[in-house]
Amino acid sequence: MEEKKKVVLSLIQPTGVPTLGNYLGALKNWVMMSKEYDCLFGEADLHAITVRTPPAELKKRCLDMFAILIAMGLDPEKSTIFCQSHVPAHAQLGWILDCYTQFGEASRMTQFKDKAAKHADNVNLGLFTYPTLMAADILLYNADYVPVGDDQKQHLELTRDIANRFNGIYGDFFKVPEPFIGKKGARIMSLQEPDKKMSKSDTNQKSFILVTDSPDVIVRKIKSAITDSEASVYYSESKPGVSNLMEIYSVCTGKTYEQITDEFAGRGYGDFKSAVAEAVAEELKPLRTEYEKLINDKAYLTECAKKGAEKANRIAGRTVNKCMKKIGFWQY
Ligand code: TRP
Repeated sequence: MEEKKKVVLSLIQPTGVPTLGNYLGALKNWVMMSKEYDCLFGEADLHAITVRTPPAELKKRCLDMFAILIAMGLDPEKSTIFCQSHVPAHAQLGWILDCYTQFGEASRMTQFKDKAAKHADNVNLGLFTYPTLMAADILLYNADYVPVGDDQKQHLELTRDIANRFNGIYGDFFKVPEPFIGKKGARIMSLQEPDKKMSKSDTNQKSFILVTDSPDVIVRKIKSAITDSEASVYYSESKPGVSNLMEIYSVCTGKTYEQITDEFAGRGYGDFKSAVAEAVAEELKPLRTEYEKLINDKAYLTECAKKGAEKANRIAGRTVNKCMKKIGFWQY
């Protein structure tokens, strides 16, 4: 018998079009994983409303992110690509898991503490129960592996604790997920302040590249990236700007740092930046072309979202029903 493929699941918040950093750091790996595993990828729009967003903007971001997921090469026929709010079981199980999580545990989440400090005017309960909703996302699908960034490791650890606790009370039920230890995604930094992660919320537009930026914009942003006065291309902690551009160039071309240093020996940063910009534009070209097509074909996007939701609902609905039966809810 053919061995059953392991289940990989991850969600991303619909923040609209992602940056080059999001893409090279995480999303590109999703495409790789989709070729090998049974994958579910979703956009976490329920998580997104922990921060106030105008209605039209939320919808636009969701459509944009969904289009990007397909445009970058995920196949809606092969993987389950879905929008979290289209699958009611997430909210249902989220509530249930709240009742199996201690206030003290949730209070220890460093992301909650950070976000509460940052958005002191809107420390809503959703921000606090964010990790239990995330646990529901994962446990609904019996995920074996969850690819997450460093900032989400603590949430995954909590998910494992909750699953183990539930299993301890009711007998083995939830699959206890593992973090996905694969090829580490690239860590791409701001083009203007290379000691900070590249982020779209940065007020300086020149500090980040969006995956849908045109080649002209990419050239302009890379040309104005901060470097140093040494005019020599090598990787070093003392040269964060140049090292960041080398990292970008390396991921886009497959060249090692050594090869890059050799390639640009005796040439200035101008040449180097042109090459980086060209490599980035080339890397993003198919994604951008496909995105432009998809974002104007709402009927197709909707069809894909429906298909994804149907597949997700089938699995998640079954899990939440079985879970409620275990707990002792009156079912008919
Ligand atoms: N919290 C994750 C983030 O901001 C997104 C997310 C929501 C997620 N649910 C998930 C990631 C389930 C992995 C699995 O990055």
